[in-house]
Amino acid sequence: MASSSLSVVLILCLAAAASAQLSTTFYDKSCPLALEKIQNGVATAVKNDRRMAASLLRMHFHDCFVQGCDASVLLNETSVGGNERGAFGNVGSLRGFEVIEQIKKDVEAVCKKPYSNHGPIVSCADILAVAARRCPVATHGPSWEVKLGRRDSTMASVTQIDQNLPAPFLGVAGLNASFVGKGFNLTDMVALSGGHTIGMAQCQNFRGRLYNESNINTTYATKLKFNCPQSGGNTNLAPLDDDTTIPPNPDLFNNDYFINLQSEKGLLHSEQVLYNATAAAGATEDIVKAFASSQAAFFSAFASAMAKMANLSPLTGSQGQVRSVCSIPN
Ligand code: HEM
Ligand SMILES: *[C@@H]1O[C@H](CO)[C@@H](O)[C@H](O)[C@H]1NC(C)=O
Ligand SMILES: *[C@@H]1O[C@H](CO)[C@@H](O)[C@H](O)[C@H]1NC(C)=O
Ligand SMILES: *[C@@H]1O[C@H](CO)[C@@H](O)[C@H](O)[C@H]1NC(C)=O
Ligand SMILES: *[C@@H]1O[C@H](CO)[C@@H](O)[C@H](O)[C@H]1NC(C)=O
Ligand SMILES: *[C@@H]1O[C@H](CO)[C@@H](O)[C@H](O)[C@H]1NC(C)=O
Ligand SMILES: *[C@@H]1O[C@H](CO)[C@@H](O)[C@H](O)[C@H]1NC(C)=O
Repeated sequence: MASSSLSVVLILCLAAAASAQLSTTFYDKSCPLALEKIQNGVATAVKNDRRMAASLLRMHFHDCFVQGCDASVLLNETSVGGNERGAFGNVGSLRGFEVIEQIKKDVEAVCKKPYSNHGPIVSCADILAVAARRCPVATHGPSWEVKLGRRDSTMASVTQIDQNLPAPFLGVAGLNASFVGKGFNLTDMVALSGGHTIGMAQCQNFRGRLYNESNINTTYATKLKFNCPQSGGNTNLAPLDDDTTIPPNPDLFNNDYFINLQSEKGLLHSEQVLYNATAAAGATEDIVKAFASSQAAFFSAFASAMAKMANLSPLTGSQGQVRSVCSIPN
């Protein structure tokens, strides 16, 4: 009796501590080693697989744009609301689920008693946000401040995927609509698109660009066609950013992406639309130029847009839950 009322008091205290707002100090008492564990987990994963930095950065984006940053993207195929992982655009494309599951285990293991007596402490949504923040750092890019205290959803939303995740065949108006709808301005949008300075895309997502579009550098297109024929080879990969460093290093987070757009070397349609080399400067052209000529300007805009993304409609306070296992609700 005495011990159960004591735990009720404790639970109430813990609940009160969980303020309805995100903060940078959220785990300072309950799990002070959480951030270090997450960051080390990402560093190890990236060491084993350079592309993982890109994959985890994208995972956070695909989480936040669908229902907010609530780890809905991690839920498995049995989840209410459908299987976001299995949805078009994610299936066969999103990577790094097992990395996040491993980090989750490692992090919970270092959280503090008595807090950890009552269940898991660190949300999967926070793990995604901190992991994503580490990705550019692991590839020589910028960092930003991540607020914590997001909670995990109990359900996913496959229907929100089609409505919220921008498709690679979109033009500027469509991309703008998608980002403005989430509270981003055009500078944020162009900066975020620069996340494609790392990572890979599949032939099926850029074939139209190679064979149907004229605003593509001929040398670049010829090179890509070897591995992306007009039919077949759908899942063959090419770097999103054909880095200009010698030797080329697609795993380097830099502003080459924007320099390349100026010579019509955008891999995806949704990238090259940001820069029209033959027309007078439009809204996105000016931003591309600014980022192409100043890596510092790109890094600073990317950092503030990512911090903004990480705050998209989080569940806080007593909303949602902190999952024990990231792929299934408690
Ligand atoms: C602007 C709208 C966007 C569109 C249309 C788009 C589309 C895509 C597509 C089609 C791929 C290749 C997927 C595949 O072939 O498997 C991709 C990969 C990627 N995207 Fe985006 N994306 C957008 C914005 C973003 C943002 C905001 C970020 C993060 C800041 C991001 C980060 C990435 C990364 C890092 C990869 C490579 C992933 C890997 O190699 O595993 N993208 N994106
Ligand atoms: C998804 O979660 C359910 C519920 O725990 C479990 O039965 C199922 O095996 C999981 N699926 C996979 C592929 O892990
Ligand atoms: C982006 O969308 C906003 C809101 O609808 C609009 O005011 C603005 O003109 C759009 N910009 C571009 C470049 O499409
Ligand atoms: C190229 O455009 C044609 C005509 O619009 C279309 O039928 C075809 O599917 C497109 N091919 C690719 C690879 O996108
Ligand atoms: C196309 O790419 C090649 C090889 O990188 C480069 O030499 C050339 O200047 C580019 N052409 C244009 C029009 O930018
Ligand atoms: C670039 O802008 C010019 C002038 O507005 C236009 O004629 C051309 O179609 C545009 N090119 C692309 C690839 O959108
Ligand atoms: C766009 O939003 C960013 C914050 O992400 C802000 O720093 C910047 O001033 C805004 N730009 C414009 C043109 O409003």
